[in-house]
Amino acid sequence: MKNIRDISLKNKKVLIRVDFNVPLDKNLNITDDSRIRSSLPTIKKVIADGGRAIIMSHLGRPKNGFEEKFSLKHTLKRLSELLKTKVRFSPDCIGENTLADIYKMENGDVLLLENLRFYSQEKAGDNSFAKQLAALGDIYVNDAFGTVHRAHASTAIITNYFPNNKYFGLLLNNEISSLEKALKNPKRPFTAVIGGAKITGKIDVITSLLDKVDNLIIGGG
Ligand code: 3PG
Ligand code: MG
Repeated sequence: MKNIRDISLKNKKVLIRVDFNVPLDKNLNITDDSRIRSSLPTIKKVIADGGRAIIMSHLGRPKNGFEEKFSLKHTLKRLSELLKTKVRFSPDCIGENTLADIYKMENGDVLLLENLRFYSQEKAGDNSFAKQLAALGDIYVNDAFGTVHRAHASTAIITNYFPNNKYFGLLLNNEISSLEKALKNPKRPFTAVIGGAKITGKIDVITSLLDKVDNLIIGGG
């Protein structure tokens, strides 16, 4: 995919897949907003170019439809504060009401959609769900670095509907360049530090790093 740095997004409805899967405490306050902060450069580029930023993400692992504790509305205020601009919220991520919310947008506006995983079709990589998501934008941008290893409707299947208009966001681009630099031609000794809440998902990464690194340090959540 191409990088959005190289194009103008003026007048475009830009559908951005971010990873706003942030930790929340029991009062639903964000305890670490790093993932929201790291998505700002791409969103700001859309605003600065005079495009319309439509933001979609998952949050947590909801089981079956809407669950209050997994609503992305809990991230709205922080996103607005960080962007220093009003962000509107759409209580769905597909369908007529979401399309109507997008229709009302002007250049420079930002709209956050409700949790993609309230539809089981997201994780199932459902084609018709991906098609409905694709109908929301003129351009698709993937900036969800924390979720690019998932072949879900909004991260993988949706790209089939944007044969000529799919891009990497600025975060994804930076992460990939840094990884390439570190992995292809590392300065020795080369030490990798791995942490995170869900270590099972990291086994493949650890296995692939084993014959590349001199030291591997594994931390906890
Ligand atoms: C994460 O936090 O690891 C990513 O947001 C992906 O979430 P998942 O492990 O529930 O797919
Ligand atoms: Mg993860």
